[in-house]
Amino acid sequence: MVEVLAAVLREFGSEFSVERVRLERPSDDWVLVNVKAVGICGRDVVVWRGGFANLKPPLILGHEVFGEHEGRPVGVYPGVVGRECMAPDGSFSVASCSSYTILGEGPPGGYSTAVWAPSWNLVDLPDEEYAKYAAAVCGVATYMHASRLAGVEPGSRVLVVGASGGVGIHGAQYLRSLGAEVLGFTRSAEKAEALRRVGVKPVLDPLGYRSLGRVDVVFENVGASTINWSMRWLKPGGTLVLIGNVEGKPITIERPAYLVMREIRIVGSAAYDMREYREAVKLVGEGAIRPFYRAYRLTEVNRAYRDIVEGRVVGRAVLVPG
Ligand SMILES: NC(=O)c1ccc[n+]([C@@H]2O[C@H](COP(=O)([O-])OP(=O)(O)OC[C@H]3O[C@@H](n4cnc5c(N)ncnc54)[C@H](OP(=O)(O)O)[C@@H]3O)[C@@H](O)[C@H]2O)c1
Ligand SMILES: [Zn+2]
Repeated sequence: MVEVLAAVLREFGSEFSVERVRLERPSDDWVLVNVKAVGICGRDVVVWRGGFANLKPPLILGHEVFGEHEGRPVGVYPGVVGRECMAPDGSFSVASCSSYTILGEGPPGGYSTAVWAPSWNLVDLPDEEYAKYAAAVCGVATYMHASRLAGVEPGSRVLVVGASGGVGIHGAQYLRSLGAEVLGFTRSAEKAEALRRVGVKPVLDPLGYRSLGRVDVVFENVGASTINWSMRWLKPGGTLVLIGNVEGKPITIERPAYLVMREIRIVGSAAYDMREYREAVKLVGEGAIRPFYRAYRLTEVNRAYRDIVEGRVVGRAVLVPG
């Protein structure tokens, strides 16, 4: 048992309550990690909105957890997975692992001063710059997984929709590192500048393919409100990878003929395995990915959410102790 200060979601869509909470150790092979930085993933915001019907408050969210275990800097792989799903090298399929759950949605997560985590989920960090990992690792690992599913290769032309978000801006940089030509959609001219700085061609016009030309793959981070134009960007036989649906609303395909006549594939991409997580930590540690984030104290969690929902954050909002 440990007592922590945590931001507790007590009612969907309402302010978090920052309070003292006692956390039971789930089992002997779970260990305590003192949280030094935790990212506010777009997934958390969907949960906060009430977009995951299987979840009920109270919840302590946060799966992008980086901190200290017995004095050593660690990242916590967010998937809580029965060992029967995982190969010795850490690879497994989230889609076919029925025991898979995620820190913050099953066990209490990282909007807290400390978390319990399975000992085998801990990955050593190359340094103690916790916030940069909290900003970038989830996005990079997500796109490592998604780009494999889509068959991205050097010379592929791709569009990231929702490119200025925490997943988008770090995922887009990973796609660049594969040798792809990367276009990124954002609604904001200011955020377009950030994309340009990391070699991503900003797109502000949803129908910009008329002048810029079509792409091989669209990575959809936004979902319901953009998918009906984003699929128009695809060349015949192209692939749309569905990564997120930020508002948590049903997705309707208004013109199925676009999919049928162009033989477009729609592929879902579910999270990332331990191997991809380790690789993402390594890339961020080496400085191959530039982290974009704004740091907030844990006690400022409600201000961070307002900033995210009102579109004021480029990249990730990261909570740090205090
Ligand atoms: N499949 C997976 O493995 C996986 C992993 C992690 C996260 N996700 C999902 O990925 C999604 C994005 O996560 P994130 O962390 O990047 O979220 P985020 O940091 O909140 O960013 C979301 C971005 O979406 C854009 N956006 C929001 N509403 C929009 C709208 N109505 N129209 C157009 N653009 C809009 C915003 O860009 P602008 O303000 O620049 O327009 C914003 O930067 C979430 O749904 C999350 O659940 C999936
Ligand atoms: Zn995440």
